[in-house]
Amino acid sequence: MASNKGIALVNLDEDGVDRAFRADVLQGLSEAQKAIPARWLYDDAGSQLFEDITRLPEYYPTRSEREILEARGAEFADLIGPDRAVVEFGSGSSVKTPLLLSAIDPAAYVPLDISGDFLRASSAELSAKFPGLPVYPVEADFMRRVELPTEVAGMPKLGFFPGSTIGNMVARTAVDLLRTMRETLGEGSKLLIGMDLIKDRKVLIAAYDDAAGVTAEFNLNLIRRINRELDADIPFDALQHEARWNDEFARIEMHLVATRDLQFTVSGKSFAMREGESIHTENSHKFNRRTGNALLLAGGWTPVQRWTDSEERFSLVLADATIPRSAL
Ligand code: AVI
Repeated sequence: MASNKGIALVNLDEDGVDRAFRADVLQGLSEAQKAIPARWLYDDAGSQLFEDITRLPEYYPTRSEREILEARGAEFADLIGPDRAVVEFGSGSSVKTPLLLSAIDPAAYVPLDISGDFLRASSAELSAKFPGLPVYPVEADFMRRVELPTEVAGMPKLGFFPGSTIGNMVARTAVDLLRTMRETLGEGSKLLIGMDLIKDRKVLIAAYDDAAGVTAEFNLNLIRRINRELDADIPFDALQHEARWNDEFARIEMHLVATRDLQFTVSGKSFAMREGESIHTENSHKFNRRTGNALLLAGGWTPVQRWTDSEERFSLVLADATIPRSAL
């Protein structure tokens, strides 16, 4: 899984504390609806827990997306063509990226990731699987325009953004990112993007509140991280994971709900929560054909083809950076 959740390059204070993390937590806990940006869920333990989530029976997105990648290789090859430089936003997982690369026969592979360690590990894995393919890893925050390696300058590009990570952003941020991707990739580029679909809410809730409690651990790990890194004493046992469907915004929300009245301090600041009050920790927006298309168009991409898995749970959309004249 991509480890890049849009984290700005780390800026530590004199005590070795990530300034942006502390600022986000202190501000987020001061708001009427307490909320902490989801990117902070992904420390080492959180990234490992997310990997565990992708293997859960209830968490369909990874399996459904893989099914599409396995079944539609010939169509990708047809529509995308060979000899593109594949630019993956986030380092590729060991399963999804090889499926795409084997299908389309690219000229180069450029993984972008904020975490150098993650990037080196996944690049080495990919190079071993595709010995003839030039791999040019770039350590960068893909939420900003990235200067691609000169080796791929003359090649047409295919951006690859699987997993429906776009759904973890509110629309404004998602549109900014899509436009930034277009700038990074340039004229004539294409984008293959995973977008999870709106579906039966029982299926959705189960995917984000699994029976084994792995997603609950993933969510609560944020509190462990705050307590450890920000000199905090949030009573861990008094917060409960909850996955909610927000129909107005077509998204699953993760919350941590106080099971009693609480008082705690973070970096010397005092906070209180009433029983039932929550900290909102993640959004995972779900799409249908129209809302997915609208988001892509707003981000400067023209949808060309859309595939779903056999149960219509997940979609992969191919989009083109060329805006048709009729749409100007
Ligand atoms: C990374 N992202 C696409 C996951 C999702 O489904 O929104 C994160 C996740 N959160 C809880 N489970 C999975």
